[in-house]
Amino acid sequence: MPILLDTGNIEEIDRFLKMGIIRGVTTNPTILLKDGVVGGLKVKERTTEIAKLINPLPIWVEVTTNDPKKMMEQAQELAGMASNINVKITIHGANGELDNLEVVHLLEEKYGIRINVTAIMSAQQGLLAALAGASHVSLFGGRVNNMGYNACEEIKKLRNVLDMFQLKAKIIVGSTREVLNVIEWLGAGAHYVTVIPSLLEGMIVHAYSKETIQMFLADAAKAEAKAKG
Ligand code: E4P
Repeated sequence: MPILLDTGNIEEIDRFLKMGIIRGVTTNPTILLKDGVVGGLKVKERTTEIAKLINPLPIWVEVTTNDPKKMMEQAQELAGMASNINVKITIHGANGELDNLEVVHLLEEKYGIRINVTAIMSAQQGLLAALAGASHVSLFGGRVNNMGYNACEEIKKLRNVLDMFQLKAKIIVGSTREVLNVIEWLGAGAHYVTVIPSLLEGMIVHAYSKETIQMFLADAAKAEAKAKG
């Protein structure tokens, strides 16, 4: 089930959902802000709207705090809004605070809430999130490449240790920058790649396909004209 859509835009989700090519939706506070979803109430409304639209496919929505108590509360509230809402929590706090994995562990093990540990830049972070009990780990492929490391290598290393120790976490690779990222990252071992809508469109439309289709249609019209005499 490899492709997720990385957006909070309802029209885009509906468009690709109808094509049958996406298997879920990922969001984060930056994506929602870009899509004009501002304020806690609006985020909850949009999340519920998306969850309803794509049900039973999953949507991932991120907590907006790094305070452990508030993360626990927000995660439980978000997960309680619909059965297909999953929660994202960053690997650590904004200044490297170490509370988050404990929160992930509690939410997964005690409360049965599926957590996606996000903002992961290395295989080692992914392994630790998986050991904490995360259902999903989100590696930011484009950002890894931008730092001068090779996202494919991190994906391969992470997939290898997850399989070796039979950890349940599935790898979502996000932060897509180029059309080629999708096949490349899936080939390296990602369970899913989450793709921004413009790239997904870019994966479908090819200049040479266009030229070929134009030839087919022009020749079909010529043949029709010929048949009519
Ligand atoms: C996915 O879950 C991530 O939130 C997202 O792909 C990050 O992308 P960016 O690096 O473009 O912000």
